[in-house]
Parts: sequence; C-alpha cells; structure tokens
Amino acid sequence: MTLALRVLGIGPGDEVVVPANTFVATVEAIVLVGARPRFADVDPDTLLMTADTMKAAATPATRAAIVVHLYGQMADVDDLARGATELRIALLEDAAQAHGARWHSARAGSLGRVGCFSFYPGKNLGAFGDAGAVVTSDSALAERLRSLRDHGTASGGRYQHEVLGTNSRLDSLQAVVLTVKLRRLDGWNARRRRLVDHYRRLLDPELVQLVDQRPESQPVHHLAVARVRNRDQVREILVNKGIGTRIHYPTPCHQLPPYTRFSHVPLPVTESAAREILSLPLHPHMAERDVERVSATLTAAVLEARSS
Ligand SMILES: Cc1ncc(COP(=O)(O)O)c(C=O)c1O
Repeated sequence: MTLALRVLGIGPGDEVVVPANTFVATVEAIVLVGARPRFADVDPDTLLMTADTMKAAATPATRAAIVVHLYGQMADVDDLARGATELRIALLEDAAQAHGARWHSARAGSLGRVGCFSFYPGKNLGAFGDAGAVVTSDSALAERLRSLRDHGTASGGRYQHEVLGTNSRLDSLQAVVLTVKLRRLDGWNARRRRLVDHYRRLLDPELVQLVDQRPESQPVHHLAVARVRNRDQVREILVNKGIGTRIHYPTPCHQLPPYTRFSHVPLPVTESAAREILSLPLHPHMAERDVERVSATLTAAVLEARSS
C-alpha cells in the first residue's frame, strides 16, 4: 500500500481518506508515505465506507481515498468511484480481505486505480509466510511499481537505479504456494458463502445481526462478523463452552495511539460498532454441524447475557 500511494505521487502535504473501521495497516501506509489520514465513518449496516462518509471526511488537501472491502464484503464501488471523480481524487482499494469478491461482475482490486492484496497466511488466499501484491490496469503505473519494489531499478537496466525504491519483491517460494492455492480460491470462497448463509438461516436477527452484504456484490466472507449486545459477556460464555471468537477490531484506528493526532471528529457508527462486533468461527473446512453448534450456543449465550 505504501508503494501504491507513492506511485500515485502521494506524500507530505497530502491527505488520504480512509475508513477508521479497518486493520491498522491501511492507515499506517498513509502515515508512512508522509501523508495525513482523514478518517471516515462507515455505513451502519455494512460497516464499510460509503461515498457520503468519504465526502464528509474529504478536504481540499485530499488527494486519494482508500476503500477497504473489510470482512470480504464489497463496498459500493460505483458510488465511491463517482464520489472520487467529483472530488477529483484517486480511489485505491484495500482488498486484503476480499480476494475473489465481486461487485457486479468485476473482482475486488480491479475497480480502483490500484488494488492491494495481503497474502498473510490467514487470508482467503494465504501464503506460507508473508506476501502481498498490488494490481493495476494502468501499464505505466505497473512499470513504476515494478521498479519501486525492486530498489528503483529501471526496466531492463540492471544496477540502473533511477528512483528511491525498496525491496518489496514477492519471493518465489511464496509465489509457488499462492499459484497452487489460487486454483482453489473460488471453491473455498463458495464454501464460505454457503456456511454464512447457514449462519443467516439459523441466527435470529433480533438477537444476532450478521453484517449486511450489498445485493450487487458477491462477498467472500473472510470473516463472519455479527453484532450482539453485551458482547464481552457473550464472548466469555462462548469461550467457556469451547467456542473461540475474535474482534475485528477492538479499537478503531482513529483511537489507536499513533493515529489519535489525526482524529478530528467523533465517528459514531464506527465507535458503537466496535463495542458490539464479534467474528464467529468461519473457515472453508468447517462442517454445517459446526455452524449449527456455534449458532445454538451463541443464541443461548445472548439470551443468558440479557437475563443476567
Ligand atoms: C484490511 C487489511 N489491510 C491490510 C492488511 C495488511 O496486510 P499485511 O500484514 O500482509 O501487510 C491486512 C492484513 O492483515 C488487512 O486485513
């Protein structure tokens, strides 16, 4: 993401709009290139940035916005792209949690000027170690990215270093693993969708609200995120029954110590969601009966927490 921002010429004096509801790396990249993050709130149903929340956060110094397809759910990229055109800013995609997701027929990462992927082992497409990729349809940007990731080497010119670069190459061993696993990605994603549909059928929305998906999209459910009241108590009951859950993420980025100085306004939707979100067990090798057990135990836990 730092390379993606750099290749678009974003640096000191520039601002980049970013949802506060994301993994810290999205914001970190902005600060690492010397720009300032402008935190946007999110939609209450999807917990993703919208064109309206992006526009509310933008200022005349804003040069770009990074949309994050968090949890494997697609943000409304049509509206965001229109908003970005109005603001005359570049739209980048953080698709680290959305490998293979679609907005209409287009895949995550192919809709902005640049799309960024993480292949951290826990991702839908994970390497055997750390890895990542940047994609773009702009061949000039692609060439500059190839140079930046390899110590600023000019194309075809060994030891000709024309710009300040870095080592951000993908190592071959990881590339081999990813190439083999890529063939299975769509199948694994389809399995994740079936399991989440099963959760949806089994969970009473009065008690547990699964984060919404946009009808124009085909999500890939990197995470199955639900909202529940008395979340911490519910989590404790679940853990005592042998069901582990996570919180993605317990502190929104604008409230994390390195980034509070960039936080100017309250972000009510993000802040209230952070108190209620709960990531349920989900991976493509789970069985339907696992989903059934989690759903039944979760429902009982929510009722128990309410009555205590
Ligand atoms: C939304 C999001 N953005 C960025 C990243 C950063 O990925 P990496 O740790 O591979 O740089 C992650 C991964 O954890 C992520 O979930």
